[in-house]
Amino acid sequence: MKKYFSFLFVTFILFSCTKEDKKQSEFISGELFLDSNNEHINAHGAGFLIHDNTYYWFGQHMVSGKEGNKAMVGVRVYSSTDLYNWKNEGVALKMKEDSSSKLQIGSVLERPKVIFNKKTKKFVMWFHHELKDQGYKAALTGVAVADNVSGPYKYINSFRIHANVLPQNFSKEDYDNAAEIKSRKDKNWKEKVVKGAFFKRDFKGGQMSRDMTLFVDDDETGYHITASEENQTLLISKLSDDYLSLTKEYIRVFPGGRNEAPAIFKRNGKYFMFSSGLTGWKPNPARLSVADSMLGKWTSLGNPVIGTTEEKATTFHSQSTYVIPVIDKKDAFIFVADRWRPKNAIDGRYVFLPVQFKDNVPYLEFKEKWDLSIFDK
Ligand code: DGJ
Repeated sequence: MKKYFSFLFVTFILFSCTKEDKKQSEFISGELFLDSNNEHINAHGAGFLIHDNTYYWFGQHMVSGKEGNKAMVGVRVYSSTDLYNWKNEGVALKMKEDSSSKLQIGSVLERPKVIFNKKTKKFVMWFHHELKDQGYKAALTGVAVADNVSGPYKYINSFRIHANVLPQNFSKEDYDNAAEIKSRKDKNWKEKVVKGAFFKRDFKGGQMSRDMTLFVDDDETGYHITASEENQTLLISKLSDDYLSLTKEYIRVFPGGRNEAPAIFKRNGKYFMFSSGLTGWKPNPARLSVADSMLGKWTSLGNPVIGTTEEKATTFHSQSTYVIPVIDKKDAFIFVADRWRPKNAIDGRYVFLPVQFKDNVPYLEFKEKWDLSIFDK
């Protein structure tokens, strides 16, 4: 009997050591990314928040099968102090069983992002929201708020944006001159989009908001960045002081440029944005752009990928979602992207790559395995 207990004890110790040994110390793109329970991290279309020296990873909780792209559970959150090892902190924002709620189970909730408001001490989450059984027609942005980083987040509302408000870089005259688009077969379709045809169509009811991200500047000003006008044009809007609503200050960016998946970071006073083209769940070439201020003029810098033709054409088979600034490391940023698997959404994979710089211009290069020491070189 004694022998039996010693055997059990030794097995237990060995098992604990093995588990401990499994601590991760590098990024491997495209493989399963296991959490501390050895389960694949389920937080797609991710957004990251750094709070109290801890990283929080928020994302879409997918389920298996095709239905998995719908929000059956909500937004999941994980925490980490080293970016390699993540602990599941549960569901931050839960979908609602109540079928009268816009946030009901089975609606679409994508790309959740969370920021912390230093004045109100609240955590504020924004996300792309589509109403149940309406495909991608609603094109809403949603907002929720919490007292604690991992929630529970209280759902506030989802809505179209900027109804009856003109952007700073689109005058009343531009508005009056904007044509109407009757169908995609219209002659000069693209030109009409650039000149604000969809903008004008949605002026009274509010502009569409699909793929989105948030960015907080050094002075704590918050920004909401979103794909609008049938995904043809990005809108960048300043958030209110409490981050719970959009102010009237906003701009149209790259009208007719068909940008999705925006991810922003700031280096040496310049604002950089990674984005993608528009091909549904399939990957396409990434884009990079730069501006001197968030509501200033954005200039395209082309495809940031350095690599094979295939890597350039597919952004390493992924689509951008966020850029993480690394704690306590200067000029250290991580490009995070999704390898979507729409037929079995829960199996979607993640790509983590260091943002590298040449002549102060960011670029991305595939690394099968890498760790944070790359930033010390
Ligand atoms: C691409 C977007 O970036 C994703 O978030 C998702 O909306 C898919 N399109 C849906 O096709």
